[in-house]
Amino acid sequence: MRNKEGENVADEGRGDNTGRAPMRLWGGRFEGGPADALARLSVSVQFDWRLAPYDLMASRAHARVLHKAGLLSADELGQMLSALDDLEQSCKAGDFRPAVADEDVHTALERGLLERLGTLGGKLRAGRSRNDQIATDLRLYLRDHVRLIVSRVAELQTALMAQAEANVTTVAPGFTHLQHAQPIIFGHQLLAHVHAFARDVDRLRDWDKRAAVSPLGSGALAGSSLPLDPEAVATELGFDSAAPNSMDAVADRDFAAEFLFDAALLGVHLSRLGEEVVLWASQEFRWIEIDDTYATGSSIMPQKKNPDVAELARGKSGRLIGDLMSLLTTLKGLPLTYNRDLQEDKEPVFDAVDTLLLVLPAVAGMIATLRVNASRMAAVATDGFALATDLAELLVRKGVAFRDAHEIVGQLVVFCQVNDKDLGDLSDAELATVSEHLTPDVRGVLDVEGALAARRAYGGTAPERVREQLGALRTKVDEQAGWAAGA
Ligand code: ARG
Repeated sequence: MRNKEGENVADEGRGDNTGRAPMRLWGGRFEGGPADALARLSVSVQFDWRLAPYDLMASRAHARVLHKAGLLSADELGQMLSALDDLEQSCKAGDFRPAVADEDVHTALERGLLERLGTLGGKLRAGRSRNDQIATDLRLYLRDHVRLIVSRVAELQTALMAQAEANVTTVAPGFTHLQHAQPIIFGHQLLAHVHAFARDVDRLRDWDKRAAVSPLGSGALAGSSLPLDPEAVATELGFDSAAPNSMDAVADRDFAAEFLFDAALLGVHLSRLGEEVVLWASQEFRWIEIDDTYATGSSIMPQKKNPDVAELARGKSGRLIGDLMSLLTTLKGLPLTYNRDLQEDKEPVFDAVDTLLLVLPAVAGMIATLRVNASRMAAVATDGFALATDLAELLVRKGVAFRDAHEIVGQLVVFCQVNDKDLGDLSDAELATVSEHLTPDVRGVLDVEGALAARRAYGGTAPERVREQLGALRTKVDEQAGWAAGA
C-alpha cells in the first residue's frame, strides 16, 4: 500500500493494500488470507460504518493521551490530529468510503490514517484494542442519539399538549374493557399519553447516567502496560468517569440492552396511542379526522382514507421488542470478556434508533394536524348509563351504604333497559318505584358537565385539574427538551 507521498505503508495483513487484497489488523501470525466464507461472515463495516465519527473522536482523545505518555512527540501529535481531521472531512464529504475488504470501521479508518501518514499512522493503535474502541464508540453513538430521540419525543408531547389544550372542556366517553365506563375530558386522555412519554424520557435520562462511563483504556481486556490516562480520555469524550474494571468494560453490553428496553417500552407506548387513533378515526367512532397529509388511500376503494401512520406506529413496536430480545439472547451465557458474538449488538441498536427516529416525527405530525369532532364525542359521552356511578355516589353522600347504592342504581339501569329509557328520562314516580332514596333531586348529578367538574380531586378529570396538569407537563417537557438540546 502507498500513502499519498508514494511511500510504502506498513501492512499487518498479507495483502498489499492497493485495493487488490484486504488490509487486516491481525495478519502477523497467519500464513494466508482468510477464506471468503469467513471474511463474508466476519465483516461488519456495512453496518458499523456509522460509528466512524465516534471512532475518530475517540482516536483524537487517544492520540493526546499517547502524547502525554511520551509515546508521540508534539510534532507527531500535530500530524496525527490533522490527519484525523482530514480523514473526518473526507468521510463527511463521502471521498473516503469503507472498502469491501475493510473488516470493520476500525480497519477502514486505520487504512485512511495510513494513507495519510504512512508508518506514523500505525502508532495510534498502541495501548488500545478494537474491544475497548467498539464499546466506547457504541456508548458515544447511543448517548448522542438518545438526545435526538428525546427531542423527537418532546415534539410529539408538544403536539399532544396542543390538542389537549384545545380539548380541555371536550367531553368524551371514557372506557374500561373498551366499554363506556365514565365520561372524561378528552384532553385528560391525551395528557395520559404525554405522561407515559415523559416517563420514557426520564428512563432514557436515567440510562444516560449509567452509560456515561468510558471503556477506553481497557485495551483488549486487562488494561495497558503503557502509561495511559483513561480518566483524561473519559473527560475529553464527555463521559462522567472511566470504567473501574477493564474486563467489565469490554465484556458487558448492559448499556445497549437497557437502551433497547427503554426503546421497546417507548415503542409500546407509541403503539397504544396508535391503536387509539385507529379506533377514533373509524366509522364507528368518528371522534377524529386524520389530516390528508397523514392518511393514505386504497388502490381499489376510492372512498378509503386509512390511518397508516397510526398502524405503523403500532406495528413497529414489534420490531423494537424484537431488537431487545435479540440482544438479550446474544448476551446470555457469554463468558467474560470479549467474544465475537458481541458484534451482534449493533444491528438491533441501530434498528431501534432508526425506527424511533422514523416513527416519532410521523406520529407527531399526525397528532398535530388531526381534527377533533367534539360534538360527536359529547353526543355519546353518557351513552351506556355512564353516569350511574355519579348517581350511586350521590346516594352515598345522602347516607346510603355504597353496597346498597350500587344495588339500587343497578336496578334502575335494568328498569331503563326494559323500558328503553335513559337515566335522565325517568319520571319522579318511576324513580320512586325503584327506591325511596331516588328522590327528584338526584337528577342534579345526571348532568355531564357537573359530573366532570365534580371529579376535582388531584389527578381527576375535572377541567380545572386538566388545566393545571397541562401547565405542569409543559414545564416538564420544556426541561426534558432542554436536556436533549444540551442545556
Ligand atoms: N467488529 C467488532 C465488534 O463489533 C470489533 C471488535 C473486534 N474485536 C476482535 N477482537 N475481533 O465487536
